[in-house]
Amino acid sequence: MKFLDANIPSSVFGFFENLKDLSLETINPRLLSTCGINNFFSTQSEVDELSNTILAKKNVLNEPDRGEYGDFQTNRELSDKVCHLLKEGNTSPEIIIEPTCGKGNFIVSSLLTFSTIKYIYAVEIYKPYVWETKFAILSHFLKNGISNLPKIFIFHSNIFDFDFKSISNRHQNQGFLIIGNPPWVTNSKLSTLGSKNLPTKSNFKKHNGLDAITGKGNFDIGEFISIKLLSLFSKQNGSFAFLVKNSVAKNILLEQNKTRFNISNLKQFDIDAKKEFGVSVNACLFYCSLNGEPQSIIKEYDFYSTELIKDYGWVDDKFVADVALYLKARDIDGKSPFVWRQGVKHDASKIMELESINDHYVNNNDETVIIENDLVFNLLKSSDLKGDVVEASRKYTIITHRKIGQDTNYIKDQFPKTYHYLLDNIEYFNRRKSSIYKGKPMFSIFGIGDYSFKPFKVAISGMYKTTLFSLVKPVGDKPMMLDDTCYFLGFDILIEAEITRFLLNKEETQNFIRSIAFNDAKRMITKDLLMRIDLAKIMRNTSFGELKSKIENIRIEEWISFRENIEKKELEKNQQLVLF
Ligand SMILES: C[S@@+](CC[C@H](N)C(=O)[O-])C[C@H]1O[C@@H](n2cnc3c(N)ncnc32)[C@H](O)[C@@H]1O
Repeated sequence: MKFLDANIPSSVFGFFENLKDLSLETINPRLLSTCGINNFFSTQSEVDELSNTILAKKNVLNEPDRGEYGDFQTNRELSDKVCHLLKEGNTSPEIIIEPTCGKGNFIVSSLLTFSTIKYIYAVEIYKPYVWETKFAILSHFLKNGISNLPKIFIFHSNIFDFDFKSISNRHQNQGFLIIGNPPWVTNSKLSTLGSKNLPTKSNFKKHNGLDAITGKGNFDIGEFISIKLLSLFSKQNGSFAFLVKNSVAKNILLEQNKTRFNISNLKQFDIDAKKEFGVSVNACLFYCSLNGEPQSIIKEYDFYSTELIKDYGWVDDKFVADVALYLKARDIDGKSPFVWRQGVKHDASKIMELESINDHYVNNNDETVIIENDLVFNLLKSSDLKGDVVEASRKYTIITHRKIGQDTNYIKDQFPKTYHYLLDNIEYFNRRKSSIYKGKPMFSIFGIGDYSFKPFKVAISGMYKTTLFSLVKPVGDKPMMLDDTCYFLGFDILIEAEITRFLLNKEETQNFIRSIAFNDAKRMITKDLLMRIDLAKIMRNTSFGELKSKIENIRIEEWISFRENIEKKELEKNQQLVLF
């Protein structure tokens, strides 16, 4: 049964059905004394609508698409479990704030769990959910009777306009619990939906244009709401408990060494979002105590078993994924003597990625491609970087120039078939949205330079959960290319690549990488992370004997020459530091 698009529980329906007087003046006080909600109905016409619904027992309208509202309602079992967990941790709130209350499950669970509540404030933008919340609360009191009747205010409002400050001011020195599950949607998703469900100043982290291009300017609305509420309430007594994506919890902590919110006792309880919400995303209950000494390390637990997984956060000025592991491995946290590179980026895989079938190439549109071999190179993707040594590839790609921004007109004269193929498919290049391609020569690609043409590479995937490095060898006299999901170092001499791979796959390096890599991030390995591996230190901790046990044919002179080369780079690095 629905009223104004809201589902009415049968107990609530029965309650209204049995009321004799359905006028605003009598019904609102009656509801206040039954369930504590102030101004349950705002107008007589709402009450009339309800009586019509009761008369007609009608069902109306299906629920609309609510993608822009990041609408993932928390099931009652989960909201109950969250409240129990909080109670076991000695939470006993007087004021509950549910900033985006949806159908109200967190409010009902709080009413069931905490007997200390005096006030409840909830906000929701979607009117039918405001009704469902009111009905759910009424139903709770009809079922359970009244042992404690808080004052309850349910606001139909946009959180971005809502005045939380006056609530904070009204309840100085009382114990708050800010609880809920803010919308799961990002600002970039909202902009593709053309939605205005955004804070008015959405550049809240003050990202620059480049960050917007690389995706760092993208943030979750849940993150904005969490930060806003923490900034308003962190000096109040009480606690904060939100279901959020793990990335939101991590970002709150990332900002914590700047924001220094008065939050302590930080905990992250990982939930199974597939089971709870039907979505494949890493999510958790983010918890902290308010009005404490600012802390910037969080304890991560499994929500269901409450087993401790690890601590992560800030160790001095370094943000790390596993504090205990990092403390053991921090010795090699420094600066790489080599510059890590990302593979080739073209954003036109339909026509730029080829396979070789029966002696000719076929593109990702299943079209036969007859072109000169000169600009065609073997291509490795993240999924191909398995095992110690990679010597062959499934795919090929066309390398249109040797340096970023280099003119591509030469292709017309030197490789006419390739030129015609590219020109015939020009719309794939023109369609590329990224601003990096703007004003660049025709068929431009990125992630290309002298380093791409080094014959030997030590490479790792950014997308997979492996931290091991592979050695990539050339095919014939041509170097293999990697795509932009991979990172690599390029070498002219095979033994140098072999030594580097050995150093990177050593246990101490692997521990260090695991201590700073977040395995729930979309890109677990990043260039920033790789640039922190101080290969010089690892090298100094390595003996020739260790190397020899893995690389049998290595000669001592080769090891000495490699070491000298790295020490020289170190010297250059340090001299630069002195100069600047
Ligand atoms: C992830 S759901 C969670 C709902 C509820 N907190 C729960 O735990 O079940 C997010 C809720 O935020 C609401 N919402 C989205 N944008 C909002 C806004 N700008 N102001 C207030 N509520 C909003 C949605 O309608 C939805 O009910």
